[in-house]
Amino acid sequence: MLTDIVDVLATPGDFQPLSMADDGLSLVAADGRSFPINESGYVTIAGAEGLRYQGDDAEMISAREAFLSRGHYATFVEAVTAAVHDALDDAGVDDDASPVLLEVGAGTGYYLSHSLDSIPGSTGVGIDVSLPAASILAHCHPRVGAVVADAWAQLPLKDNSVDVIAVAFAPRNASEFARVLKPGGQVVVLTDVPGHLLELREPLGITDVEEGKLERLIDQASSHLTPIAEPEIIEFPMTLDQQSIAAQIGMSPSARHIHPDVLGRRIAALPDHMTVTARAAILRFAARSEEN
Ligand SMILES: C[S@@+](CC[C@H](N)C(=O)[O-])C[C@H]1O[C@@H](n2cnc3c(N)ncnc32)[C@H](O)[C@@H]1O
Repeated sequence: MLTDIVDVLATPGDFQPLSMADDGLSLVAADGRSFPINESGYVTIAGAEGLRYQGDDAEMISAREAFLSRGHYATFVEAVTAAVHDALDDAGVDDDASPVLLEVGAGTGYYLSHSLDSIPGSTGVGIDVSLPAASILAHCHPRVGAVVADAWAQLPLKDNSVDVIAVAFAPRNASEFARVLKPGGQVVVLTDVPGHLLELREPLGITDVEEGKLERLIDQASSHLTPIAEPEIIEFPMTLDQQSIAAQIGMSPSARHIHPDVLGRRIAALPDHMTVTARAAILRFAARSEEN
């Protein structure tokens, strides 16, 4: 709930602290700026420019829920939570020290809620710009607070307020991540790499992940974040029926260029069940200090 995380939230632009007001119906800053809490339980915190993106629409979010609820990405979620534990261990943060976890582009909260479950004293800030995602995110776990905000703008968080940031298949704002991390904190990134969904690419006409993606990701973050270790490749086979394949394709923008009728016919022409490769890399970064 937002009460669990209000202490780390701040107004964008000038980073004033926020507190609960109106019997829990809004967050307010000392200068009187007020951010109403939506009836679904999330709060939108944007600067004067408002939200410049809409993120995933309701159809994509419901496809994501359907796909993830079938457990196809269990190996990915386990890997992210293990990396969050490694990050906390490196920082010397005990589970009972009430660490603050942040997930950016958190979607339905699949990864954040899994990590929170395995770290009993932790609280989680879930940020997503999509309103349909935020409605689900707000209820994905009792210790999550859901915030609608743009990952490419200043994050509505105080400096040095977060122990670990996780980003799974979502936007990465390296300078803001470095600002909000506590000293010793880390960023955990899960990102798809070439070969992901390989067996579906040709029959459905969707393009593969571009070569060199990991190198570019590390390079783009390099002014603010430094990798802790070599990326770890996680690869496993998924057995997918046509419904799961339709959900997988529906939850990403990879098939936007294909007319839905054409895509539907291509999916219907696939075997009833297929073995499809899931392939992603997990990386950990620390904020770059003056010395490195
Ligand atoms: C591929 S989904 C991943 C969701 C979640 N991490 C997961 O793996 O289940 C990308 C998410 O990033 C969100 N997103 C896209 N652009 C964003 C932005 N500028 N700021 C915040 N969230 C954004 C989308 O709404 C979507 O929920």
